[in-house]
Amino acid sequence: MKVLAVMLCMLCSWSLPARAGDVQRGEIVAKVRCMPCHHLTNASKNVGPSLQGIYGRAPSITGVPFVRWDDAALEQWLQNPRAVKPNTKMSIPPVSARDRADIIAYFKSVAGSE
Ligand code: HEC
Repeated sequence: MKVLAVMLCMLCSWSLPARAGDVQRGEIVAKVRCMPCHHLTNASKNVGPSLQGIYGRAPSITGVPFVRWDDAALEQWLQNPRAVKPNTKMSIPPVSARDRADIIAYFKSVAGSE
């Protein structure tokens, strides 16, 4: 019964409108949307640089106007990398506002823990 309640809750949370970032959902979305090109939990480079510990650290890439990858920087980047850096090789289909908030919440939750 408890398990069922948890499952139902997970289902309903998928259909709720955007709110403060959901760490657990963000981890899943990051795995689906970012892992094709980025390692999330080890430091090695893939197609793009590792995103391990990305939150709060300085960009490893050139050509972006950010001092560090904080909420505002990640939000802008994920809204549209090309608007930030026209010649970037990171070209991805749009990430929804909810997915951005959850991904950023996930990155924040693991910041400094690795
Ligand atoms: C199609 C491959 C691809 C996908 C998918 C992708 N990226 Fe990227 N990403 C790149 C590449 C290539 C770069 C390097 C861009 C450059 O140098 O301009 C990059 C760079 C970055 C950087 C800068 C990292 C640093 O060290 O400064 C961040 C942050 C980032 N990506 C986040 C994400 C997130 C979050 C997702 C998932 C929503 C994602 N990326 C999905 C290819 C991708």
